[in-house]
This record gives sequence, structure tokens and C-alpha cells, in this order.
Amino acid sequence: MDGTVKAINDDNNATPDLAGRIIAVLEAAGIPEENWTPEILGPADQIHGGGLLQTQLHAALTTITKDMHLLDIGCGIGGPARYFATEFGCIVTGIDLTPEYIDTARILTGKVGLSDRVAFDCGDATDLPYDDVSFDMVWALNVTMNIRDRQKLYSEMWRVLKDGGRVAISELGQGPRGDPYYPLPWARDASYSFLLPPDEMRGMLENGGFRVLEWVDEAARRQAAEKYPPPPTPEVDTPLTIEITRGDDYPERRANSGRSAKEGRLTNVMMVAEKV
Ligand SMILES: C[S@@+](CC[C@H](N)C(=O)[O-])C[C@H]1O[C@@H](n2cnc3c(N)ncnc32)[C@H](O)[C@@H]1O
Repeated sequence: MDGTVKAINDDNNATPDLAGRIIAVLEAAGIPEENWTPEILGPADQIHGGGLLQTQLHAALTTITKDMHLLDIGCGIGGPARYFATEFGCIVTGIDLTPEYIDTARILTGKVGLSDRVAFDCGDATDLPYDDVSFDMVWALNVTMNIRDRQKLYSEMWRVLKDGGRVAISELGQGPRGDPYYPLPWARDASYSFLLPPDEMRGMLENGGFRVLEWVDEAARRQAAEKYPPPPTPEVDTPLTIEITRGDDYPERRANSGRSAKEGRLTNVMMVAEKV
């Protein structure tokens, strides 16, 4: 097995029987399955820094309709895929490298009654097992940092998208002031973390047949929040945490990400581009 794949799978297997643990926590809290909403599941099944709110903000940068078929690359345990299907009524296929994540995604999706619209495959984003021109939109939420061959990734995204289809990517990039501190949320060390400066990433997408429609980086986010302060998010009482999914050292990893960003060692961007 390729060293990067092994490192990612080892990292993702922090919690054995992940689906069983998530279900046990929800059952112990007395929350019935019909109430396992994206908000209740979010702290454990949205595996990225901004949680469900980040997925919602990103979705608001584009238009998802009921008749669409979305592909979620590096889907983790399926939190964003279930959110898209629940919120917009669309069909979603998720794909991830880690078999245990795919098992967990399928079990949780069955429990919340979405298996007829949300399906999962185990596979590699740089070699997608899908026909050309199959999807209306392709998502990759905090995934690309683990992918060395970006050119191949972007060309696969382009290949499976319908003409005029959109790609939505959120990622952390290499900042101007040196290497970030590890362990980080997506990698315990630099051996499977492949950060690109944001301009380089954008250039690769543009040269690969995409037109950038939305580009929201940290500075743009700060400006928007100052101009249009977001309403307070309602607190949801949920017993789930990101540590259940990612392990007890997750707070240290998240803190390293924050510190690295503050010192200019990491950048982040949410973007949407169109296949031209
Ligand atoms: C930080 S998690 C994000 C999961 C999900 N997008 C979410 O936001 O909840 C990154 C995911 O990308 C997956 N991944 C990394 N490299 C991949 C590749 N080459 N192909 C498919 N999945 C990959 C990892 O297994 C992991 O589940």
C-alpha cells in the first residue's frame, strides 16, 4: 500500500467501531433516530475546522437544487453529504480512501433514512471510478491537503463534471511565513500533508479548465463578518464531539492549525469554480 494512503488510513482509524460509538452516545443521551439531524450529528460527522456552519456557508456560495447529483470527494463519514441531501433534496455520492469511514458513513446514512439518496464508495480521488460527465457539482471539503498529485485530482474533477458544472473546494494552504506546526487536523506530520500556496492552487485550477466564481479567503471572511455580522447560531444540545471521531488529541491538532494560521504559516480558502 502506498505510504500516504497507509498514513491517512492509520490516522482515520483513531476510533475503532466508530459508527457503534456514535450510535451508543446518541442512544445513551436518549435521542431517537428521527432526531439525528445534521445539527445533532455535526460535531462528530463534519470533519473540518468550521463544522456544519462552514459547510452551510460554503453551500450558500453556490446553488444546489433537488435535481442535482453531487459528488463529495474525501467525504469522511458522510456528514456534508447527508447535509446536502437533507437541506436541498439532491442525490449525493461520497467517496473516501478509508474503508472504515465508508462503513460508518453507510451505517449512519441508513439510520437517518437517507440511503435511497446518499451512497458511498471507497476509492481514490485521483482515480475516480465514475464515468465522464456524470455529476452536476463536485465537493472537496478540507481534503486536498492530503493529495500530492493536485493536477491529477483537478483533471479527475473536471472529467466527471457535466459541462457548466461546479466544483466547490475548501482547503488549508501554505502560508508565506514558514511551515505550519504539526500535528495538524489532517496530518500528524508533514509526510502526508501537501500544502500549496493559494495562488498556485488557483492557477492550477484555471489552467485545468475551471473559471473561479467565488474565492473567500480569511481576509474576505473577516471583512464580510465586519460588514454583515452573522446572526448568533442557535445552540444545539448534542452529546457528540469531534474527539469521538478524530481522537482525544484533536484539540492539540486544532490549536496547531489556529496558531499556524495566526503566524502566517497556513492560509485557508473556500472557493467555487465552473467547468468551462
Ligand atoms: C479532513 S477529512 C474531511 C472529511 C469530509 N470532507 C468532511 O468535511 O467531513 C479529509 C478526508 O479526505 C480523505 N482523503 C484524503 N485523501 C484522499 C484521496 N486521495 N481520495 C479520497 N479521499 C481522500 C480522508 O480519508 C479523510 O476522510
